[in-house]
Amino acid sequence: MDSIRNFCIIAHIDHGKSTLADRMLVHTKTVGEREMRDQVLDSMDLEQERGITIKSHAIQMDYEHEGKTYKLNLIDTPGHVDFSYEVSRSIAACEGALLIIDSTQGIQAQTISNLYLALENDLEIIPVLNKMDLPNAIPEVVEDQVIDLIGCDREEIIHASGKTGMGVEEILERIIEKVPPPKGDPEAPLQALIFDSVFNSFRGVIAYFKILNGQIKTKDLVKFVATGKQYDADEIGVLKLNMVPKNVLSAGDVGYIISGIKTAKEVKVGDTITHVESPCDKAISGFEEVKPMVFAGIYPVDADDYEDLRSAMDKLQLNDASLTFEPESSAALGFGFRCGFLGLLHMEIIQERLEREYDMNVITTVPNVSYLVHLTDGNTVRVYNPSGLPNQTVIDTIEEPYIRASIITSSDFIGPVMNLCLDKRGVLINQSYLTAERAELVFNLPLGEIVFDFYDKLKSISRGYASFDYHMNGYKPAKLVRLDILLNGEMVDALSTLTHFDNAYPFGRRMCEKLKELIPRQQFDIAIQAAIGAKIIARETVKAVRKDVTAKCYGGDISRKRKLLEKQKKGKKRMKQVGNVEVPQNAFLAVLKLD
Ligand code: GTP
Repeated sequence: MDSIRNFCIIAHIDHGKSTLADRMLVHTKTVGEREMRDQVLDSMDLEQERGITIKSHAIQMDYEHEGKTYKLNLIDTPGHVDFSYEVSRSIAACEGALLIIDSTQGIQAQTISNLYLALENDLEIIPVLNKMDLPNAIPEVVEDQVIDLIGCDREEIIHASGKTGMGVEEILERIIEKVPPPKGDPEAPLQALIFDSVFNSFRGVIAYFKILNGQIKTKDLVKFVATGKQYDADEIGVLKLNMVPKNVLSAGDVGYIISGIKTAKEVKVGDTITHVESPCDKAISGFEEVKPMVFAGIYPVDADDYEDLRSAMDKLQLNDASLTFEPESSAALGFGFRCGFLGLLHMEIIQERLEREYDMNVITTVPNVSYLVHLTDGNTVRVYNPSGLPNQTVIDTIEEPYIRASIITSSDFIGPVMNLCLDKRGVLINQSYLTAERAELVFNLPLGEIVFDFYDKLKSISRGYASFDYHMNGYKPAKLVRLDILLNGEMVDALSTLTHFDNAYPFGRRMCEKLKELIPRQQFDIAIQAAIGAKIIARETVKAVRKDVTAKCYGGDISRKRKLLEKQKKGKKRMKQVGNVEVPQNAFLAVLKLD
């Protein structure tokens, strides 16, 4: 165990985690220069394109130090808030962390939140300033921030560059010197922490684990504590660039297990693996069931594709257990699914994968959060869809989820950021200065207010100079009402939203105005109304137009006429018929487009 070092890299998005990890892989000859594609750790297409790490992975490097060979296990962590539970479990599998900070940017919101996770787990922190090759690096300023934050000496901060390779050797040496070897008793009953899993269409689900105590051998009969399921360990091994099978793994080791598991749902990140005979007496602490936080309806554009959509969702769920879905029907959109996601990025990824990998053409409704609705009869129901909110008369109170948000910005933008958060019903909890020019604002905010345009607005008002991170922070009662939209007197369920009572009137008005812009004129007047219960609070009208598309053709050129009709038909495909009104897809996202 003396020769093992388990570490992770924590960094804000784009601070260069993957690039530096690649450098370490090349330096330790884990990957040859020639095999080196950019960012080998980001294996999914989508990840490469977006340049972000979606799933965490692990890789083992061998490194010689003073005549001894060390096994360095690098556990990669995803950088986005949606996946913060996965980050916390990866961190729990390590004894040390590289804290990477872009020397041109300084400390950002995620640097801090991930650092706190690492400190909670008693990890040894090795601070690294990255991108030192850039002319606009401001190392002294960033060093001051780091010293302030973790209380280290200036000399301990390593200067590095993923681009030139500067500092890589020093980082590896420092890991061996500073990160403690794993503790644990190889003779004790098996206790291994699952920190990640991947789905492989040939081998089933592969779970990644770190052994805290005991040993695991091939063919052992093991049990996953939280799910209670038993498996034969068909293959175990360590992760190099490929999987390398081993017969035995022992306390301190990081490895993988393949045991014929078919669906991702069976492997829960944070779960404990133990033996069926002589099991450990308790599970590793910190396990949580990840719960979806953001919900939206996904509907096929063409109703005939419903079954295909279902099978695509089933397949996606095989390798992404955090996606949930159940059938739902909407008067406006027909049959589809109400899906639960970890967050907005997760939602976008699923939508993109449906379109790209499964060639589905879908409409996604406006995202919402889940509400706790206390009824007058004493019961409580969870509502995942605004149109599913019970009648106002039977509702006692509604509670909505809150987040604790940390926003780091330069002092020039404190005013606008503050206004944005207050406008979103935020309550300021703390304000502190990291340096004279940079402040951290901590807000309590309703999650429902940030699920749509908050992040974009934050970016635009701060011209990109604000970083944002959040954690769930319980439920709080709120005066929420359901705002419905009616088209020619007919309610369009997919356009219902829950909104705070105080904002309901202006909000209803803006919705009507926006829909008027988005719904094309048809051969009759269309009344657009916003209502709370039976009360109409706003109205707009789309005036009728009479247009014969073929009139221009003088009845002469038949092929031209056909072309025009074809074109019109195509246009129709992206429309949904609601009563007698044709509604374009983008109108279902109208609320996202309000100014
Ligand atoms: P996430 O996976 O999204 O968290 O990003 P990351 O932290 O892994 O960042 P990544 O390694 O993808 O680097 C982000 C960008 O910075 C890329 O365009 C890199 O080419 C660039 N970059 C990374 N390290 C350096 C460096 O040392 N110097 C310079 N000049 N550019 C760098």
